[in-house]
Amino acid sequence: MSAVRFGVLGCADIAARRTIPALLAADHTELVAVASRDTTKAERFAARYGCTAVTGYEALLGRPDIDAVYLPLPALLHAEWTERALRAGKHVLAEKPLCADATTAAGLFALARERGLLLFENLTFLHHSQHTAVTEALAAGAIGELRGFTGTFTIPPRPPGDIRNLPVGGGLLLESGVYPLRAAQHFLGPGLTVTGAVLRRSAGVVRSGAILLSDAAGRPAHLTFGMEHSYRSSYELTGATGRLGLDRAFTPPETYQPVLRVHRQDHVEERTLPADHQFANALRLFTDAVRHGDRLTAHTDASLRLAALVDEVLDRAEIAELP
Ligand SMILES: NC(=O)c1ccc[n+]([C@@H]2O[C@H](COP(=O)([O-])OP(=O)(O)OC[C@H]3O[C@@H](n4cnc5c(N)ncnc54)[C@H](OP(=O)(O)O)[C@@H]3O)[C@@H](O)[C@H]2O)c1
Repeated sequence: MSAVRFGVLGCADIAARRTIPALLAADHTELVAVASRDTTKAERFAARYGCTAVTGYEALLGRPDIDAVYLPLPALLHAEWTERALRAGKHVLAEKPLCADATTAAGLFALARERGLLLFENLTFLHHSQHTAVTEALAAGAIGELRGFTGTFTIPPRPPGDIRNLPVGGGLLLESGVYPLRAAQHFLGPGLTVTGAVLRRSAGVVRSGAILLSDAAGRPAHLTFGMEHSYRSSYELTGATGRLGLDRAFTPPETYQPVLRVHRQDHVEERTLPADHQFANALRLFTDAVRHGDRLTAHTDASLRLAALVDEVLDRAEIAELP
């Protein structure tokens, strides 16, 4: 396959701001069509990006000139449209979270495998080189033996019609909680279990929460997330002789040069890291895998472990119902 021909389901903000510009700039990709529930919206989007407008998601899935679908729909629609896209023979780049529970996630990955298609959860932060710099600093002994993790992804309240305020958006555990959960798994390993959690919910939507996890050695991860705060997107790793962390950990713009701060007993060191484009990197990984028939199984396994951890948080959480 020379170029992967993409269709986009939904004129989403994240598609316009990050993914489509990355797709248009990438090698071996072609944007063929964008579908919306609303014809005018699809036409406006298509005119902006030089592709074909399609009314209705099913109509886009029926097109033979599309190999792969980018799916930036509200979280609770991901499972249905991922399944429909796979059954239509399309590879799927699904926005995070892939879906709302581990059983559904396992079913979707099994379907992709059966059909010989790639399904990939677009948790882009993992593909920014700043986290490699953190891993290298840890391996070099910058803070001694790793003792624990704290991570936060919080945003200010969004306007009433925003998907984050609607049940279809899946709530803030799925929307922002998955970032520090996945980061904790990345640094403390796959064996994390949930010790406790509190979720603040109103009108059926989780607004914010906190989670305490630990691994078999008792190393804790303390996470906060939600939409009732000022913006914060950070994590910190604590070690035996220091701590280090990033302040723009999850959604840095591609022009932003991250700063890795290493605190030790007697000094603080700041390392300015190169800017990186996590959306472009994730897209390249997906596109190359489609072109070369790679199934990205390590990423599949990680997505399944994340979904299982979300299930565990929901099982263990105290729910605070807000007025
Ligand atoms: N990877 C990342 O870093 C990242 C960052 C931000 C967001 N995301 C994820 O991307 C997804 C979209 O987020 P967003 O902020 O871009 O949302 P958004 O702007 O609200 O876009 C969602 C799109 O879904 C379509 N849609 C279909 N049914 C809908 C319904 N019942 N209500 C509302 N919209 C509906 C709409 O397209 P039409 O009206 O055109 O059909 C809408 O434009 C979410 O899963 C979010 O978690 C990922």
